Amino acid sequence: MHSSSIDKMKAFKEKYLAGKRNSKLEIIDLGSTDIGGTYRGIFKEKNWRYRGVDLAPGKNVDLVLSDPYDWREIASDSVDVLVTGQTFEHIEFFWKTMSEIGRVLKPGGLCCIIAPSAGPEHRYPVDCWRFYKDGMVALANYANFDVLEAYTQPTPLGYGDGSDVWADSVLVAKKTAGKARGRNESGNPLNSKCRYVDELRRSIDTQQSTIGQLNSEIEAKKSEIEAKNAILNKQNAELASIRNSRAWRLVKRLSPIRLFARKLLPAKQNIPDAQAELTPIERQRIVDEFHKLYYYAYQSGGTWRDTYWMGVPAMKCPLDLWVYQEIISKERPDLIIESGTFNGGSALFLASVCDLVGNGEVLTIDILRRERPKHKRVTYLLGSSTSGEIVRKVEKAAKGKKSVLVILDSDHSKAHVLSELRIYSRFVTKGSYLIVEDTSVNGNPVLPEHGPGPNEAVKEFLAENDAFEVDKGKEKFFLTFNPNGYLLRK
Ligand SMILES: C[S@@+](CC[C@H](N)C(=O)[O-])C[C@H]1O[C@@H](n2cnc3c(N)ncnc32)[C@H](O)[C@@H]1O
Repeated sequence: MHSSSIDKMKAFKEKYLAGKRNSKLEIIDLGSTDIGGTYRGIFKEKNWRYRGVDLAPGKNVDLVLSDPYDWREIASDSVDVLVTGQTFEHIEFFWKTMSEIGRVLKPGGLCCIIAPSAGPEHRYPVDCWRFYKDGMVALANYANFDVLEAYTQPTPLGYGDGSDVWADSVLVAKKTAGKARGRNESGNPLNSKCRYVDELRRSIDTQQSTIGQLNSEIEAKKSEIEAKNAILNKQNAELASIRNSRAWRLVKRLSPIRLFARKLLPAKQNIPDAQAELTPIERQRIVDEFHKLYYYAYQSGGTWRDTYWMGVPAMKCPLDLWVYQEIISKERPDLIIESGTFNGGSALFLASVCDLVGNGEVLTIDILRRERPKHKRVTYLLGSSTSGEIVRKVEKAAKGKKSVLVILDSDHSKAHVLSELRIYSRFVTKGSYLIVEDTSVNGNPVLPEHGPGPNEAVKEFLAENDAFEVDKGKEKFFLTFNPNGYLLRK
């Protein structure tokens, strides 16, 4: 008897028999022969009678059974407690033993069965079985006992005598008084209750209820389909009646004419959204390439060298002039200051728009003396835009003006433009613009060989002046000679 089995039996005694020390108890230990230890010491109490029972005489055997499955030596309903350890694995027909336990125990009597769930084969004289918790519960059910406790030792407990190798299972069960029970062929109590069958029945019941549920879902779907079919049939009938109508026949007769007419009309659908199909980089590349095409055409006297306002050359991209027009019509400036007059085409354009909106005058500055168009709204100033004399004249003209627009289009070196920006920015009124022309040069994207110019000047100016911001909205036509050059006075 290994020590972990002894301990399990001691635990049984403490838990279930501790309160019965003063009661007279008849205790049977089945398979009690002393092979390396017994339970006898555990049940040594004054009022208890412990009897070791086995199939052959031996040490710790008080009673020898003549038939392992028919204990005629022990009366029915005469035993209070039946314990057995390391015995059940050797009993060929252990369920018969269980029946006998059921017979000899008094109603309310307890049994404690300890048997291995593992361990090597050890034949005394046979080694037939191993037991798990479920098997223990099945045994109790077979005898119609109430299970008080059933377990299999889960992990090694660290016994030094090798106890752990057996990983014993334990059943503590009670013979319940008054429970109906059948009898086996020996006339012993027998319970035909089978947990497996019960579980099977429960599982069949669950599956049947699932099948029932699915069947009702199928029926519901069928009715849904029928309802939809009914609607479909109704719609088909309506369609058939339309097709049979006179109006439909007329439409059919007209349809070749309709198709022919459609061919004549320009297709309105399926115009590809070119922008949506392009990434921003692809789009910019296309704009830049067109910008170059447009810009360099001047070399053969084209585009901006061949642009006129009312017959006067204007060195501008017409799309920018359109933006000018939009700004002027919205801001209605009192004064437009332009540095870089050249032939005066742009100044004349500005004056014309002022005429149309009925407000504003144009002050345009150039170092070149030239024959230029006369216009009542245009004043030509001769001199450098950054000279003190010119700036003083401009200051005088700007004094008291509620709305002032400035356009810088003279010398396109970075130094000159930056100096103009610093001087002329102060004339620009809130909501109006400081427009820097030709920010496209120096590789933005044209004339990469130009060297730092308007674009670079704008960058430096914006870094030092936060009263202005680039209005990219003014580049809405894609092509502009002034990328990042429309500076809005905040
Ligand atoms: C690009 S053109 C102006 C074009 C004109 N705004 C148009 O759109 O038709 C540049 C002009 O700036 C003038 N210019 C160069 N340096 C200047 C300066 N320091 N002050 C004023 N004008 C200058 C040139 O004489 C030239 O006529």
